[in-house]
Amino acid sequence: MEKFGAILGVALVLLLQGLDVVNGRNEDICRLFSNNTVIRDPESCSQSITCIDSVSYYSTCTGSTPFFDKDTGKCVKSLSTSTSSCSISCADRAKQFVADPKSCYGYYYCADEETALYGTCPQETHFNATTQMCSRQHESDCTTSTFEYCSIVKNGVNFDNLQGCNMYHVCEKGVLKDKTCSKTYYQASTGECVSKALVDCDAHPLPTDVCGKASKPYENKFVADEATCRGYFYCAKQKDGTPDPNPVWNQCPQDRFFDASSQMCITPSSVYCSHDRCDGRTASFVVSATKGCRNYLSCSDGVTVSERSCGNYFFDDQQGACTPSVQTYTACKT
Ligand SMILES: *[C@@H]1O[C@H](CO)[C@@H](O)[C@H](O)[C@H]1NC(C)=O
Ligand SMILES: *[C@@H]1O[C@H](CO)[C@@H](O)[C@H](O)[C@H]1NC(C)=O
Repeated sequence: MEKFGAILGVALVLLLQGLDVVNGRNEDICRLFSNNTVIRDPESCSQSITCIDSVSYYSTCTGSTPFFDKDTGKCVKSLSTSTSSCSISCADRAKQFVADPKSCYGYYYCADEETALYGTCPQETHFNATTQMCSRQHESDCTTSTFEYCSIVKNGVNFDNLQGCNMYHVCEKGVLKDKTCSKTYYQASTGECVSKALVDCDAHPLPTDVCGKASKPYENKFVADEATCRGYFYCAKQKDGTPDPNPVWNQCPQDRFFDASSQMCITPSSVYCSHDRCDGRTASFVVSATKGCRNYLSCSDGVTVSERSCGNYFFDDQQGACTPSVQTYTACKT
């Protein structure tokens, strides 16, 4: 019985985590933006967010300039409604409260017909324009619309698209565009396309025909992810006989590389792979994929720092050192 309770608990936690991912509420939006980018808070027309090391730092526009303008990065008296969905009007609402269109907990107090002062309801309460009060969340039927990135980010700023390691977004004239790094991955912290090994990302793009062609689909087979030496996709057999359109990605444990021919995770020196061979390795020096087995890589935090040569010697991957005895690893086959 106790065991069942524990299992149920785990299932519930997983379910809740799943919901968080969907809502994205507990995930900091700044994970998408490069260092020191300033955006408007998606949940307020009056708050800005400065992203520092992927963490959100909030500032609030107050007084006679209560609105945050994402294009100029300044607090302003009013926003032109064409470029934002932050249209709050105090006309005929002097000395009243009006709801913030961006969140359930925000409101504006109209000091007069032109001055809107931003405020927020206490934790776990929602603002209700009818009653002019903050009331408990469960009594409220407020829901806010999903935000559009281009209403919070200024034009020309790159930001991450979590759909794929190589994908990112940019707003051009207020329209969200999808962009792709060619042969590289998008690094959110710098806003640039960089070598795949430098980006910690599991959403590897599917290689072309990853699970075979329509005429010859792979069924219940593991295939390389073509981005890392440890990662692989599992192509499940489909009922209708088509290639698996959504193979699941996974990776070998530490110090093992994926080997397509044996369909197993094996010793790295037995696998030819030209992606970052330092990924998932505990050793500081590992044999390089360069032909002849005389070169080795210097690794730091699972990333290649440099490639060096043993000169006339060979690199011994077990000992992590140059030796005079000939080495003929599959990893560096001629
Ligand atoms: C990000 O910006 C902050 C503030 O300018 C700076 O202190 C920090 O070192 C930067 N982080 C990186 C990784 O450059
Ligand atoms: C505001 O309160 C009124 C009266 O209690 C209620 O009928 C209405 O549904 C509430 N509005 C929201 C958005 O919760």
